[in-house]
Amino acid sequence: MRILGIETSCDETGVALVETADGSAGALPVLRAHALHSQIEMHQAYGGVVPELASRDHIRRVLPLAHTVLTEAGCALQDVDLVAYTRGPGLAGALLVGAGIACALGAALDKPVLGVHHLEGHLLSPFLSADPPQFPFVALLVSGGHTQLMQVEEVGRYELLGETIDDAAGEAFDKSAKLMGLGYPGGPALAGLAQHGNAHAFKLPRPLLHSGNLDFSFAGLKTAVLTQATKLGPDLQDRKADLAASTQAAIVEVLVKKSLMALQRTGLNRLVVAGGVGANRQLRAQLDAACAERGVRVHYPELHLCTDNGAMIAMAAAMRVDAGIALPNRDYAFDVKPRWPLGAAAEA
Ligand code: KG4
Ligand code: ZN
Repeated sequence: MRILGIETSCDETGVALVETADGSAGALPVLRAHALHSQIEMHQAYGGVVPELASRDHIRRVLPLAHTVLTEAGCALQDVDLVAYTRGPGLAGALLVGAGIACALGAALDKPVLGVHHLEGHLLSPFLSADPPQFPFVALLVSGGHTQLMQVEEVGRYELLGETIDDAAGEAFDKSAKLMGLGYPGGPALAGLAQHGNAHAFKLPRPLLHSGNLDFSFAGLKTAVLTQATKLGPDLQDRKADLAASTQAAIVEVLVKKSLMALQRTGLNRLVVAGGVGANRQLRAQLDAACAERGVRVHYPELHLCTDNGAMIAMAAAMRVDAGIALPNRDYAFDVKPRWPLGAAAEA
């Protein structure tokens, strides 16, 4: 079965073709081709994502990207058996573009469509890597909008262990970067600058580190960064790399310690890290070191599939279909879910 996946939940337009290995039991679906257009440059002038501009750009990009993907895979549109799209969570207008185009394609081709949860896409994206994980595992989902620890038993069985009570880890990177005048998107910029700084230069809080549960809180950290930046005044320019390194260290330490706690509590010895912040090198290095010490295997998506993409949406659809829990439909009466807890979607 060939599945076309369309991702338009935020500021990247992603399209991909994944093929399930029909007949060979246990074989994972294979990525045949994928293409991505990032809107970063367009939103940069505004210092963040402008939802209306995002939607309009998705409209312009989806079909040309689909054409590129099909050409690369050597397939015709008629060869597609299922059209999957991100149903939520995300920006409502942006989601409507992907859903609308997916359902129009489905109707025109007389093929079923399937709405996919964006976070389930991230969660299952490491299955696209050369070294895919095995169930069960603990998942650390760290994106621009979400920070969650989940216990994953199998496709569709996700138990929330803890999550952020305010800002997400990606948001903490982005907002701190903005305070330091590093622009958008802040995460990669702050991480890049941090390489040249001293992570012990500033004492920043590690929120909820000793809370005894698996929840996170990053809003206070942003305030602490603002306080430091204000205190520094004109000296901020010279100390920016140190402040960036200290901020990154605070975020990474909390993510690593809570992940280790989740592994200990569940008794599992496998960790999957997914979402945009999973691209952070410091986070990867510290998780690798801590997990190696404890005999825990860590799996990441390929670096270029950490942030939003169509491959993870096609893959999640393929794995749900293979597991017999997806309900592809032909009524094409789509709706989108800008706010959508993963647990509710998994059982759909
Ligand atoms: O998963 P994603 O692409 O989009 C959402 O679903 O939110 O994650 C985007 C987030 C942004 O907050 C971005 O700043 C962050 O991931 N990010 C990073 C890095 N690359 C992306 N944060 C820290 N270090 C990075 N290298
Ligand atoms: Zn995402």
